[in-house]
Amino acid sequence: MGNQDNFLTQVTADGSFTFFSEEFNELFHSHYGARQESFGKFAIPTQLPDKAKNQVVKLLDICYGLGYNTAAALETIWSVNPHCYVELIALDINAFVAESAIKNHVFDGWKSEYKDILQQLAFTQQVKTNFITAKLLIGDARSVIQSVHNSGFLADAIFLDPFSPPQCPQLWTIEFIRQVALCLHHDGLLATYSCAAPVRRALMTAGLVIASTAPVGRRTPGTIAAWSSKNSFLPLSQKEQEHLLTCAAVPYRDPQLRDSPEVIINRRIREQKASSLEPTSRWRKRWS
Ligand SMILES: C[S@@+](CC[C@H](N)C(=O)[O-])C[C@H]1O[C@@H](n2cnc3c(N)ncnc32)[C@H](O)[C@@H]1O
Repeated sequence: MGNQDNFLTQVTADGSFTFFSEEFNELFHSHYGARQESFGKFAIPTQLPDKAKNQVVKLLDICYGLGYNTAAALETIWSVNPHCYVELIALDINAFVAESAIKNHVFDGWKSEYKDILQQLAFTQQVKTNFITAKLLIGDARSVIQSVHNSGFLADAIFLDPFSPPQCPQLWTIEFIRQVALCLHHDGLLATYSCAAPVRRALMTAGLVIASTAPVGRRTPGTIAAWSSKNSFLPLSQKEQEHLLTCAAVPYRDPQLRDSPEVIINRRIREQKASSLEPTSRWRKRWS
């Protein structure tokens, strides 16, 4: 798993680059734009321009990949407050992704300030300067997240950016998301590009309050989550709320945090069949 070590670079609509994963049969970003997605789905919804006014900002980048979300976060924070100290923990199962991004000159258009940090992080998995302490932890996020939690790290912003639920269900289960939530500061914000019903259900089961984020590129919104509702949170629409009461919202489960994607998917299918929730087709018809 996670062993693909050469990636074909593809240009997205905003001129930034992404890779295709043969293992997950999916692009690392939407074709609308890797760069704009990082700002629009992660850095801005987690309110980094505001958080940057503090002395320290702690970031947890789950599924670091090429490093776009971290790059966008650093640019957002330091353009507001160049003296803000960043503590970053990034997780990925495959160290070659970040290395390939540097080798393929993905960040050549970015200021050297960020490029140097991303390069060092990719090749040595750690960086320490006067402005940042960063670690890239390589391994299955399902086990690494438990050591992050045990270390007492509480993030002001969490970026949750796995491949889509059908391709990578193991990082969208209620058990994994519960572990992620334990790493979120009580004032922190968690952002993900997904608005899928089982993802939202898992975030709510972990005790988080959720809202939609503005669509970026594609038509569908992302999701923002926190321990308590924020002023900026718009309540879910009636349509979105009803979606979470249908069969589609049966969450993925992985009780021991070590099942294969197939086992997790089949478990959910069984639970959907046994569920008395409204069929999602009926909901779709009602709202079409
Ligand atoms: C959609 S890409 C992330 C894109 C990334 N955020 C970026 O800005 O380039 C998903 C990433 O999840 C990683 N991944 C897949 N399974 C994982 C697992 N079990 N634990 C940790 N990372 C995983 C892949 O290696 C890949 O880099």
